[in-house]
Amino acid sequence: MRMGRTVNFEEELERKKQNVEEVILRYLPREHGFAETMARAMNYSMQAGGKRLRPILLGETWKMFGGKGAVAEPFMAAIEMIHTHSLIHDDLPALDNDDYRRGRLTTHKVFGEAMGILGGDALLNYAYEIMLTAFDLTDNPRSVAVAARIMADKTGIHGMLGGQSADVENEGKPITREVLDYIYENKTSALIEASMMAGATLAGAGKQEVRVVEKAARSIGLAFQIRDDILDVTGEEKEIGKPVHSDERNRKVTYVTLMGVEAAADQVRRLSDEALGLLDGLDQKNEFLRLLVNQLVSRRN
Ligand code: IPE
Ligand code: IPE
Ligand code: MG
Ligand code: MG
Ligand code: MG
Repeated sequence: MRMGRTVNFEEELERKKQNVEEVILRYLPREHGFAETMARAMNYSMQAGGKRLRPILLGETWKMFGGKGAVAEPFMAAIEMIHTHSLIHDDLPALDNDDYRRGRLTTHKVFGEAMGILGGDALLNYAYEIMLTAFDLTDNPRSVAVAARIMADKTGIHGMLGGQSADVENEGKPITREVLDYIYENKTSALIEASMMAGATLAGAGKQEVRVVEKAARSIGLAFQIRDDILDVTGEEKEIGKPVHSDERNRKVTYVTLMGVEAAADQVRRLSDEALGLLDGLDQKNEFLRLLVNQLVSRRN
């Protein structure tokens, strides 16, 4: 019974991932003209795979609140572009200086640093070009405007980029738990919050429900980043598709350096249970989403 359920979950996850791949493919820029190299750099990283977690979370939250039609699709492509932009820039020599990502050489290693910077910038902007096409797919333009605003807020200085800034600035320094939580809640939770909140908003969820979704997503994001820190120490490069011990090399304070692997793993479980509790408190249900949050606790890549 348990086994059957696991197999079903994995098949279902693969099917949803394939769907995301198809959506992304439809939105990628064409490789032609005088900006062809930059377009190739953008597509290189977008087509390198990855778990596609954020678009899946967006789509599942949208379904959970009864979303219909195609309006979520441009948002799914857009959130993956924003995320991929963050990874291309995160790997640059000026930030984490990593040579592998998603099992391939990083974008700047293949196309050079200038194209890594420009391709990352162009993906971030392209995300909004795509997102705004959602106005053509809806009879509820207000929900598209609110969702786009959430995406913008969670990506910039009050979200992911704020977290990346504090992360880089505090390398090699002893930091408090308060600063560490600020970094995680922003560099990682913010885009997970954006995914789930935008999905809920596009499906017509109310303010109160979106607030609950935001809280659950914050915990999912924290758990996700702590698991990432654990894999940086205990993972296999082949499996995670990026270098191990990147955090140690960059002298980062993480949950692992702060409390050790075991206590960090306990935090991942605790935060995930907290998120599941919040989702269970909503009238809307999505069993696949529950299973996904649960699976992330022990993910190996
Ligand atoms: C990596 O994100 C960056 C973190 C926030 C830890 P993912 O682990 O989702 O990377 P991909 O998209 O699967 O490559
Ligand atoms: C991820 O932090 C945050 C963002 C990329 C926004 P990490 O630096 O830990 O991510 P990985 O380990 O390189 O994927
Ligand atoms: Mg980093
Ligand atoms: Mg990094
Ligand atoms: Mg990491």
